[in-house]
Amino acid sequence: MAKSSTSPSQEVETLPPKKVQEKEIPQKMIYKGSDAGSLDTCLPLIDIPTIDFVLLTSPESSAQELEKLRSVLSSWGCFQAINHGIEPAFLDKVKAVGRQFFALPAEEKNKYARDIAIGFEGYANHIINGEEQAFDWIDRLYLITGPEDRKQLKFWPENPESFRKILEEYNAKMVKLNEFLLKAIALALNLEENCFLDMYGEEATMIAVYNLYPPCPRPDLAIGLKPHADGTAFTYLLQDKEVEGLQVLKDNQWYRVPVIPEAFVINVGDQIEIMSNGIFKSPIHRVVTDSERGRMSLAVFCLPNPNQEVGPVNGVVNEARPRLYKTVKDYTSIFYSYFEKGTRPIESAKI
Ligand code: OGA
Ligand code: NI
Repeated sequence: MAKSSTSPSQEVETLPPKKVQEKEIPQKMIYKGSDAGSLDTCLPLIDIPTIDFVLLTSPESSAQELEKLRSVLSSWGCFQAINHGIEPAFLDKVKAVGRQFFALPAEEKNKYARDIAIGFEGYANHIINGEEQAFDWIDRLYLITGPEDRKQLKFWPENPESFRKILEEYNAKMVKLNEFLLKAIALALNLEENCFLDMYGEEATMIAVYNLYPPCPRPDLAIGLKPHADGTAFTYLLQDKEVEGLQVLKDNQWYRVPVIPEAFVINVGDQIEIMSNGIFKSPIHRVVTDSERGRMSLAVFCLPNPNQEVGPVNGVVNEARPRLYKTVKDYTSIFYSYFEKGTRPIESAKI
């Protein structure tokens, strides 16, 4: 896994003796922003509650839990979900097949390599495939998991053998979980239950991304994922059970997101910020690396159907809260062009 010390040969010649050399990383992996960050345990822990999905549905507790949900999505834009109904043993399997894939020899993984001329799908190695803006310290396996007719199975590993079946099963569960949350946020705002779901549309796009952050000899110079907000409606993240790395920005301060095994870290994406007319916040987050330990996470991006018009839903625009966002369509395609320029894509949707 630690492919990290493979410096390009022309650099090796100019490098000082071996001891120092081991601490070098390829030039193109050096992050130029001032906010590379680190696993600095001096950074404060994020102060977000866990939201219990069982409490969200039971008559005695739902009002209180919905209010917790409204409050955390309006302040932080993310929370940790527990009692979400997906078995821990199954989550372990979903993660295990990702780990098994990343552990395969490079030539096997490269059978599923991304072709940037075609799109973002497939396997991308952080050193080899750093041709676009992202020189992040990350290996990714990026797969469209739904709807059925948008899946490109040529990017789906056949090794381990159970990979495809497990990811399909996971996708079906995530579709349901996302529908549940889209209804819950409407209830949390006292709106008609289906208002977000209807705008989100049927045949919405589901993307699963396995992220592997190999140990990095210079966590002070490289970054796992540079600061960004997600272009999704919601993102569902399964963290590594052992290694922390995700951090969230609020009021110019970075906060560490602790590991809660079996919980999902769920964050608002730009499109829910737009649909809620800015009531819910799409948080900026980043991932830092560790010199000793690799980390793997699995993110599921839930995106509205690309043909849907996405704008503030009924009931979130009023005299006290004028309309802040335009109506957008296929926001994901705008998202990547802005992202590469380094500006926040959501700026393009503001009135
Ligand atoms: C992402 C992301 C966080 C993580 O994939 O967009 O923010 O912890 N991932 O891997
Ligand atoms: Ni993200």
